[in-house]
Amino acid sequence: MLNYKNSDPYIEGVSLYELVKVCETPFYVYSQEKIINQVNKTKEILGNNIFYSVKSNSNQAILKLMQSLGIGADVVSSGELKRALKAGFDPKKIIFEGVGKSEQDLLYAIHKNIRLINTEALEEIKLINNLAKEKNKTVDIGVRLNPDIDGETLSKISTGKKTDKFGIDIDNVDKIIELVKACKSLNLVGISCHIGSQISKIEVYKNMFNQMKKIADKFFESGIMIKHIDLGGGFHVKYKDSDPDFNIEMVKQELDNCFAKTKYELSFEPGRYLIAESGIIITSIITIKNNGGIDYLIVDAGMNTLIRPAMYGAHHEILAINSNSEQFIDYTIAGPICESSDMFSKNIRLAKQKIGNLLVIKNSGAYGKVMSSNYNSRPLPSEILIYKDNYAIVYSPEKIEKTIETDNIPSWL
Ligand code: LLP
Repeated sequence: MLNYKNSDPYIEGVSLYELVKVCETPFYVYSQEKIINQVNKTKEILGNNIFYSVKSNSNQAILKLMQSLGIGADVVSSGELKRALKAGFDPKKIIFEGVGKSEQDLLYAIHKNIRLINTEALEEIKLINNLAKEKNKTVDIGVRLNPDIDGETLSKISTGKKTDKFGIDIDNVDKIIELVKACKSLNLVGISCHIGSQISKIEVYKNMFNQMKKIADKFFESGIMIKHIDLGGGFHVKYKDSDPDFNIEMVKQELDNCFAKTKYELSFEPGRYLIAESGIIITSIITIKNNGGIDYLIVDAGMNTLIRPAMYGAHHEILAINSNSEQFIDYTIAGPICESSDMFSKNIRLAKQKIGNLLVIKNSGAYGKVMSSNYNSRPLPSEILIYKDNYAIVYSPEKIEKTIETDNIPSWL
């Protein structure tokens, strides 16, 4: 994402050194140009039925951009639904799913007349029917099925196996059919699945498509006219050289092989694929030390800024900026948080660094800022959006004093 002009680092037409003057590190930077290109490429290959998975990056500026590019939104809470509506998404381009929606969540979604609610439990279908009846409405729903397909990805981001908590077990399809027929305030218009994130194997997509087609046909044969099949998100992003190559054109090929002769309207809900590679974190080196032979760079971004390495053992490539040294050192890069797992990378070879230098943590646009926290009472990171020669600080955190004020001391203390 960085380009160099006279050896100075730039993101699109904006100098990184300019950004550091106006914003304290650590902060996130997103390239609008890159996002636009990625969304357009995805639309060109998979068609217009793309519902951006808001959970991957829910900043209002990012949502507004996604909306302006003509795609829909996939939300998993009424908070995300409010964000999507505020950013201007047409309610008819919003789908609402999530494994545990509260009654208030559902009422809000019904009230806003969104495209559909994807249900994830038989009990939830009954509840939506009752709420719709109370409100005198007929509500379009989809069912998220659990197709019992191993996404062959990290266990912590795998969601499509029989015993996972997500969706409704496909063994219950007959029960769904029977129930939906009895629910007079519901229209079952679609089925969906999402078997996990970071799915690279084309064989997995193929099995999933075939399985979903079979199930859709079964609904159809039972008299329930399924219109949409939502095939989830999960497209793979390459975080390191040794990651498998992933080609979305091959997904399209399998899609055509499976669905060419059908009339189902197919859709996807990608998050990471649309935004991960368009974001980076800029962090400063706070201190340098050698402990037991290990050369540590302690940086001001930590697991509170980007939790993926600590939580999933995820790898994010790190680049050094101002590195004029001829000498190279194998560094271990760790954050400032009081946890041993607050570690970004072990033994990465960088030009010799000094305190105050900047580092870049790559591919941080998805599941970065949205998963950040105030742990150790540190402020949340800022976010900056770049477009050509312009930049805007699209999120600046409240001062930590303000965060502290939101606690209450009870009268007996
Ligand atoms: N649809 C549903 C129902 C989902 O649960 C998810 C992600 C997506 C779509 C979008 O998946 P994507 O295209 O982004 O892979 N925090 C983890 C990832 C958790 C994904 C949760 N669900 C990480 O940082 O790797």
